[in-house]
Amino acid sequence: MNDFIFKENELYCEDVPVRKIASEVGTPLYLYSLATLKRHFNVFDESSKALNSIVCYSVKANSNISLLHFLFKMGWGADIVSGGELFRAIKAGVDTRKVVYSGVGKTESEIEFALEADILMFNAESLSEVFLIDRTAGRLNKKARISFRVNPDVDPKTHPYISTGLKKNKFGINIKQAVQAYETAAKLPNIDIVGLDCHIGSQLTEISPFNDALKIIKELLFKIIAKGMDIKYLDLGGGLGITYENEMPPHPSTYINSVKKILEGYKGQVIFEPGRLIVGNSGILVAKVVYNKNTGSKNFIITDGGMNDLIRPALYEAYHEIVPVLKREGPRLKVDIVGPICESADFFGKDRVLNPVEEGDFIAVFSAGAYGFSMSSNYNSRPRAAEALVDKDKFYIIRKRETYEDLIDKEIIVNP
Ligand code: LLP
Repeated sequence: MNDFIFKENELYCEDVPVRKIASEVGTPLYLYSLATLKRHFNVFDESSKALNSIVCYSVKANSNISLLHFLFKMGWGADIVSGGELFRAIKAGVDTRKVVYSGVGKTESEIEFALEADILMFNAESLSEVFLIDRTAGRLNKKARISFRVNPDVDPKTHPYISTGLKKNKFGINIKQAVQAYETAAKLPNIDIVGLDCHIGSQLTEISPFNDALKIIKELLFKIIAKGMDIKYLDLGGGLGITYENEMPPHPSTYINSVKKILEGYKGQVIFEPGRLIVGNSGILVAKVVYNKNTGSKNFIITDGGMNDLIRPALYEAYHEIVPVLKREGPRLKVDIVGPICESADFFGKDRVLNPVEEGDFIAVFSAGAYGFSMSSNYNSRPRAAEALVDKDKFYIIRKRETYEDLIDKEIIVNP
């Protein structure tokens, strides 16, 4: 996070005081550092060169088209999970032959859109889906490239809501049914089997679950290759964690080198789908202190940002570091930092010891670049936040703040 640093008592993003941007653009505000994004891009890109690989950035982590444009311009593809994400990726200039499409519930119209866009492959999550892809491709006179997402039943040791590779999860096909699924799909006229896919969860901070899963997947990989299937792509998903508090996730090169070792003998290309790792620590959420409140039993800092802007603390009890943007002298206080929404889960942090803040000051919620804006909503009829990108001493608005008009734009009053 060394592009979000204090100079004297003031938080900067690269060469611009956060306070300056927040005063001009207003709050709540997502603020991204291009330097951090570039650094994370470079680390992963360099590491991935140890293998014959394609990196498909996971669009769901942060789907702002300006950030997407940067990553696609640098040569990366996209991991998408909806027609909407495909639309964004295309608008941001993706090479559609570097797009992989995951998700358990792809609809016919989404499949059609992806076929028309000629994406690299569908990561199919059930046989029923493959039958629909086959019928749709037939109707369009196309051949669909597919892989199966296989569930290796490995515990990723992360939050249960972001675990995906256990047999109780809805994702992928059961590894025990995989060979049969491949054999069935191989007989379909409009299906071209090209890959095998696996993603076991997100925010993994240890390497062993990745290795365990890969060893299981490798066995399957060679089994289906031996059956004469040309598995050109082995997609290993995303999931590498980041530091929010004091986690020590493996470095991308450690992870990729261990993949390389395990995959010895595989001749195809490996696909990686990093999301959080690239954007997580590239962004902060800036909110304004509306009130300081003491209820007799607790101190609260009430901000103009809420769980509709950043839902991770409410949904996963996720930890995000929080700092006042201006460090004031004075006794540090134990506080809950909360939003204005009518829910007790509307908090950014609890029992944090912070320097004093005055009403009108700004606070920064760190590590908010991934699953921050992309999971935000209009709950409590709150217009969604603005997003800005800093490049050295300049900043650019990359998403305008929504207006009240935007809130009702699609609604219609009827008088039946
Ligand atoms: N590929 C697939 C198939 C995925 O499902 C995901 C994330 C990724 C790649 C990217 O994973 P990453 O590298 O970002 O860990 N909202 C949650 C995270 C949900 C992740 C869902 N899938 C959070 O805020 O922690």
